[in-house]
Amino acid sequence: MRGAVLGRLARVVGERLACPKIPRHAAAPLTVSPPVNFMPVRSLTESAEIAWEDAKPFEEIPGPSCLPLIGCLHHYLPYIGQYSPKRLHHNGRLKLQQFGPIVRQKLPGNTNLLYLFDPEDIEAMYAKEGRYPSRRSHLALQKYRLDRPHMFSTGGILPTNGKHWWELRRRAQKSMNKVSAVASRLPQVDEVCREFAELISKVRCEGSGRVGHFLDLQKRLFLELTITSLLEIRLGKLDDHSDEAEQLAHAVDETNCVVLPTDNGLQLWKYVRTPMYRRLVSAQDTIYRIALKYVETKDDELRHARQKKKAEGESEPDTKHVTSILESFFESGLEDKDIVGLVSDTLMGGIDTGAYTMAYVLYSLANNQDKQDLLAQEARRLLDGSDGKVTTKVLSEARYLKAVMKETYRLHPISIGVGRVIQEDTVIRGFRIPKETVVVTQNQVISRLPEHFPDPQRFLPERWLHKAPPAHPFVVLPFGHGPRSCIGRRMAEQNLQTIILQLISQYRVGWVGGELDCLSNLINEPDAPLDFTFTDRE
Ligand code: HEM
Repeated sequence: MRGAVLGRLARVVGERLACPKIPRHAAAPLTVSPPVNFMPVRSLTESAEIAWEDAKPFEEIPGPSCLPLIGCLHHYLPYIGQYSPKRLHHNGRLKLQQFGPIVRQKLPGNTNLLYLFDPEDIEAMYAKEGRYPSRRSHLALQKYRLDRPHMFSTGGILPTNGKHWWELRRRAQKSMNKVSAVASRLPQVDEVCREFAELISKVRCEGSGRVGHFLDLQKRLFLELTITSLLEIRLGKLDDHSDEAEQLAHAVDETNCVVLPTDNGLQLWKYVRTPMYRRLVSAQDTIYRIALKYVETKDDELRHARQKKKAEGESEPDTKHVTSILESFFESGLEDKDIVGLVSDTLMGGIDTGAYTMAYVLYSLANNQDKQDLLAQEARRLLDGSDGKVTTKVLSEARYLKAVMKETYRLHPISIGVGRVIQEDTVIRGFRIPKETVVVTQNQVISRLPEHFPDPQRFLPERWLHKAPPAHPFVVLPFGHGPRSCIGRRMAEQNLQTIILQLISQYRVGWVGGELDCLSNLINEPDAPLDFTFTDRE
């Protein structure tokens, strides 16, 4: 009996799964009033100076009740729990209302968990993240990889911390963060995006302009864009059926589904192969097989090209001129096993993030036709001057587009915030925060608070057009911040901006679905089918 209950808890505690879908009307209200113990925002700056001995004990931080062994798990159980494992942003709003801007919880196994709602506290946390910022995530993925030393030499960039993380990161980011390396793929990215825009005209319903299975199409698009940007390979035409694309998309979904519950639950997977862990193994086997194939294919291709050049009497290419991202992984001194791991991680990082963000951009534009018209005017003006192609010049001049993207990140970020493990005893907001505490920032919640943005529920890209930032710089952080922020940011932004420009210049996008919120998997995904209409622009 106890085993069954523990098993159940293990499934729900990851702040997702197993909980019946919460009806939308049961959601916490969008605006929150401060609780009795709410400290004014400014008091924080003062508390940042407080010494450890003078600070209040960690246990005095308000938060939901905890039980031995299971921590706060019971609050997430169906029917009896007050929080939904599938709606972290609703939980966050409720916790802010109940406890104030700093909230303490416990994960099973006695791990301290802290939620931060004040941008000054978030800034203070980042200021103390140190040389090797540490995250506690993808723990089961780490086990999967470390158990297979013949396939991987580390747990990969997502779960690894400390010096080993930096060794991977510094080599990988040399090319992934390099403007010229990412921009060199723009012509191919644009080609894929134009193909997608053309595909829409073929697959939409003749009368209504509706497109069935739009999310699947988007995932196919972002798989192709990620592979094109990173590996310089095309999987195939977007409307060709591809088993490999389907398998990859499914494996990425599966991995995203199991990460939170395996990270935050009772972690029985460390001792027995739980159903959740078996799902991860199967998904990761698929991703590994496909990533290995790509890497081997590209490696062969490059070797042949080099041999051919040598045979023709040309000198070896100078590594300074290497622009392809995968090529530069080869040149960076990374082991082959690390490269396969990195390619797997970027496939995991690039598909759903792009597809979901694109969905929320289109949703926001479809519900704000006046803003969509402004963007269409900008897109047409810029594309008319470049033969319909998105170029680096077009992107650099697309000011309104960038404001649209920022406003979408504010209203619909793909993650609740960022996670960090505090690496040494520290003081935040006048409280002692012990080493090893896991902090999760609540940017998704605070981005919609009126104290940061007037009229916060409205989609107003214009907020971002002024010189001064509209709010504290640590309120909206869609890609994180600092040395451990998103390594794929440049690539993601290039892909997203290109597809939005191509679509909006050609189509008026409408929305015939209801209100779209999100469900919390590892990342936030749309909680209803995507019901867009696409009609030709005059
Ligand atoms: C709209 C698109 C995307 C968003 C909003 C996004 C957001 C994020 C965020 C919030 C983090 C955590 C940052 C932190 O802990 O400070 C992250 C990390 C990461 N992202 Fe992205 N991401 C996106 C696209 C991509 C793409 C396209 C790739 C790869 C091609 C990618 C690969 C990664 C990787 C590997 C990490 C872990 C980095 C590390 O731990 O050093 N992401 N991303």
